[in-house]
Amino acid sequence: MNHEPHRLAVVDLEPAKSDFLSEAIAGLSRHPRTLPCKYFYDENGAELFQKICELPEYYITRTETGILRVHAHQMAHCIGARCELIGLGTGSGTKTRILLEELEEPAVYVPVDISKEQLERSTSLFRKIFPKLEILPVCADYLEPFDLPSPSRKAARKVVYFPGSTIGNFEPPAAMTFLRRVVDLCGNDGGLLIGVDLRKDRNVLERAYNDSAGVTAQFNLNLLARANRELDANFDLRHWRHYAIYNPDEGRIEIYLISEIDQTVRIKDRQFHFHAGEKIITEYSYKHTPQGFIGLARKAGFEFVRMWTDNGHWFGVFYFTAKL
Ligand code: TRP
Repeated sequence: MNHEPHRLAVVDLEPAKSDFLSEAIAGLSRHPRTLPCKYFYDENGAELFQKICELPEYYITRTETGILRVHAHQMAHCIGARCELIGLGTGSGTKTRILLEELEEPAVYVPVDISKEQLERSTSLFRKIFPKLEILPVCADYLEPFDLPSPSRKAARKVVYFPGSTIGNFEPPAAMTFLRRVVDLCGNDGGLLIGVDLRKDRNVLERAYNDSAGVTAQFNLNLLARANRELDANFDLRHWRHYAIYNPDEGRIEIYLISEIDQTVRIKDRQFHFHAGEKIITEYSYKHTPQGFIGLARKAGFEFVRMWTDNGHWFGVFYFTAKL
């Protein structure tokens, strides 16, 4: 018997299958049609995303990790001693590990992730690497309000770590709502360390979302495969195609699944008709300018402290403090 999950996920708010079903039906009933991107990350999807992060075209992870390797020491200095580090969507934890290694006596680490398998794996690994650190994992969709577990030691301040430019996957109003919630979560004098992908040449951007090995396509299509597995749907994957393009007016990569033929798909007891060429939006990935992002964070209640970047200014890691 596997007793690990009970011991590991101190707070288990993993979204239920019924949420996936109702959100998928709602999204596909809308025009333009959408499917919620948080459902990319089942066990299969989390594995595929890990592969995306290692692709030569997907510069995001490599660039952000490089910035951390060079500057984590300074980041830790800004954060200060004995913090409570709250990691949102930290996945396998590679970047968080670099940061934790530099932090001065962190009081507690609270990883929050929607993928339970991933959370369990990274938590057991981190317990081995940092045996003295208290780790309180929470399996939750961090877009919904959730309660933080109570650490046994009082921390000097709460600092949210939000890597991977996941903030770019929110449309501006949702990004604002999210940042405001982070202000409330970390409280006055709390901090936010956040990775943000910056605007750059559109060819570089489009290649990152259309890799030559086709892993991104597989990742995108996995959403339909997951619907087939979990929602009693019958998407025929041979008739769907991955498509990603940069929209310069909106400053975002738009990721779609395109129906290649006229077809009707069933999800449980619902039917959806798609025309040939019809799109489902699966994700937007906004690319910010440093000034634009600092302005957004300021509006949400954050004061800008510092940004670290790479030589090409492709990616920014920003540190803000919350002023209530
Ligand atoms: N957060 C990632 C990003 O915007 C997610 C991502 C990478 C993604 N490649 C994708 C999402 C392809 C959907 C399809 O960069």
